[in-house]
Amino acid sequence: MGAPATTDSLTVRDERTGKTYSIPIVNNSISATAFKAIKAPKKSGEREENETERGLRVSDKGFLNTAVITSEITYIDGEAGVLRYRGYPIEQLATQSNFLETAYLLIYGALPSSSQFASFEYEVTRHSILHVDTESLFRAFRYDAHPMAMMTSAFAALGSYYSEANPSLQGQTLYTKGDPQSIANMDKQIFRLIGKATTLAAMAYRVRQGRPFVQPPTGMGYTESFLYQMDHLTEENYKPSPVLAKALDILFLLHADHELNASCTTVLQTGSSLVDPYSAIATGCASLYGPLHGGANEAVIRMLISIGSPENVPAFVEAVKRREKVLSGFGHRVYKTSDPRSFIVRQIADEVFKVTGKDELLETAMLLHKIAMNDEYFIKRKLAPNVDFWSGLIYRAMGFPLDFFPVLFAVPRVVGWLAHWRQMMLQSGGVKIWRPRQIYVGSGKRDYVPINSRESVAGFKKEPSSIAHTGQSKRAQLAEHRCKL
Ligand SMILES: CC(C)(COP(=O)(O)OP(=O)(O)OC[C@H]1O[C@@H](n2cnc3c(N)ncnc32)[C@H](O)[C@@H]1OP(=O)(O)O)[C@@H](O)C(=O)NCCC(=O)NCCS
Repeated sequence: MGAPATTDSLTVRDERTGKTYSIPIVNNSISATAFKAIKAPKKSGEREENETERGLRVSDKGFLNTAVITSEITYIDGEAGVLRYRGYPIEQLATQSNFLETAYLLIYGALPSSSQFASFEYEVTRHSILHVDTESLFRAFRYDAHPMAMMTSAFAALGSYYSEANPSLQGQTLYTKGDPQSIANMDKQIFRLIGKATTLAAMAYRVRQGRPFVQPPTGMGYTESFLYQMDHLTEENYKPSPVLAKALDILFLLHADHELNASCTTVLQTGSSLVDPYSAIATGCASLYGPLHGGANEAVIRMLISIGSPENVPAFVEAVKRREKVLSGFGHRVYKTSDPRSFIVRQIADEVFKVTGKDELLETAMLLHKIAMNDEYFIKRKLAPNVDFWSGLIYRAMGFPLDFFPVLFAVPRVVGWLAHWRQMMLQSGGVKIWRPRQIYVGSGKRDYVPINSRESVAGFKKEPSSIAHTGQSKRAQLAEHRCKL
């Protein structure tokens, strides 16, 4: 390895060979590929699959300390509880901006002028109408389908309507060229995805109620229009509650981005194959659906319901400490103090409760918060409330069903996913497909054994499980039929 270009460097001595390597430190990071140059001869008896002579691997299960991109979008200081979008503190944006303005900031890098904002708002709201065939997509789901399953499918399906937006059909450089035409095409998909996200979410909501779908209204703000699309039936001059519209708008703003969380990373991983943005956003939705990510606000309410009244809180906390339960809404991979968004959400909760009435689980939540914040177990592990601890209570007070909570997270997060996707498509040096390595610890080479000469391997996890066929009626179970086993 040659001399580092910067004065900051890391000196590594490989005790296997006695060789010393100097690895440049840039932006307080070292390049994992630099370690590929650190090679050693294979020891006698060492597994060939270790590939020791081909360079050292950097192992990081769960991306605990691996930076996969350079970004200008969001900064988090997890120790200090700081969150900034494009340099602006989240607290200032929450009190002075609005969701769509913040979306512009996240995607394009600067706060818009009045005319820039007006044009962005016009394009986003103009692109909220869906092809009428999408109605049959929603109607094809079973009556009790989870709305996130609908959202994931709907985003993927949406891409099929725009062949001009598909690099598989138009050429792989469709979004990476960086010329005005390519960027305009990219921005059009961004307007469509943000504009249609609320329409899809409202359809996922209405289809389960057996309600007809409504066209997005004109003359309403983004979140106001979303509330209208969910709730309007036959009323004349229907106008959603301004308190609820404002609260939802701030919640959307707070959920718009959070740098490289699991779903954003998924969008970038998928997008790195240069697939169309609709498919990439669909995978983000799938990732967000998981209980360790966007499903946490729903899990908080289920947890609070299971605890019931405040007198059961101490026993629940003890069960968490015995690792029998998880305190949902607490803990974060990045924040090691209170999530700054949780304070803002707590204030919004009070505003919402003024018009909706207090949620009956609030007392339980407040006591749980108080006990956990003063308990050595949580203090030692730096476990504090995250954004989901209070947001579920607000959504419940607003009357949203529990399984709709992740949708209320996914809709605004479309903005963050798109901001990162756009940045990656336009990054200097082009897009590299995200293809990590593994540490192979499986069998060495072995030869195929014909079926009659094999010794079978049996046991738990070592063969397919025997399963119950619950879908079969008693009559079908008793019927005679041809069966291999
Ligand atoms: C968010 C989360 C997945 C982060 O996980 P992580 O960074 O991998 O943290 P770890 O699982 O290593 O946790 C560190 C320690 O705290 C404990 N811990 C973390 N979150 C906990 C929680 N919510 N309740 C109880 N214990 C928790 C772990 O058991 C571990 O304890 P140990 O060191 O004694 O084994 C995790 O905190 C969690 O599951 N929280 C609840 C779900 C949630 O609210 N998710 C929304 C995030 S916005």
